[in-house]
Amino acid sequence: MPADLTHLESPRFALSRQGPADEAELLALYADARVMRYIEPGRPPEKVKAALRRADDQWNAHGYGYWVARARGGGPILSAVMLMRDEARQDVELGYLVAPSHWGQGVATEVCQPVVEAAFGAAGVPFLVARVEVVHGASLRVLGKLGFRRTHQTTEGAVLEWFRLDAPAAR
Ligand SMILES: CC(C)(COP(=O)(O)OP(=O)(O)OC[C@H]1O[C@@H](n2cnc3c(N)ncnc32)[C@H](O)[C@@H]1OP(=O)(O)O)[C@@H](O)C(=O)NCCC(=O)NCCS
Repeated sequence: MPADLTHLESPRFALSRQGPADEAELLALYADARVMRYIEPGRPPEKVKAALRRADDQWNAHGYGYWVARARGGGPILSAVMLMRDEARQDVELGYLVAPSHWGQGVATEVCQPVVEAAFGAAGVPFLVARVEVVHGASLRVLGKLGFRRTHQTTEGAVLEWFRLDAPAAR
């Protein structure tokens, strides 16, 4: 189990382990068609809740999972960042979303940075993967700014571009 990663910080934001008190706000974000356009349009709330429960189990077992980000002074959830273990693929996938009111202000790039550092640092994750629809320019750009490199494409309904970022020691 890594050191306590339940609270992380970036220059403008405070990140904390997602918990039951965050569920209503997260459900509202996951119900927003703009947020879900390239993730899964129309994802039912039950599926969102199940993912949040799985993330909580993963926190308990491995010490990392989903974080929610708020402005440092408090306020609503502005972003969520996820480190999702995939036992079948044997990897850890980075995911992120930002409230549409705050798009285009560098939020995603900023909140992912401490999570990526925690993954490679205290959590000891050797590499991260990410996947993005090839037409999702903003998300492709976020991964580029974080240093991820393209690995391959798959077609799962949409065409997905897969990315990888190795821990600094392996670069
Ligand atoms: C994708 C998302 C996370 C980006 O969040 P954000 O806080 O606006 O991202 P940032 O501001 O850190 O960076 C966005 C970058 O993409 C660029 N960009 C925006 N729209 C773009 C587009 N259509 N094509 C190419 N680049 C684009 C921005 O200019 C910026 O790059 P820059 O800093 O070089 O100017 C946000 O739009 C979101 O939450 N979308 C819904 C959820 C989602 O799709 N998550 C990712 C699933 S793969």
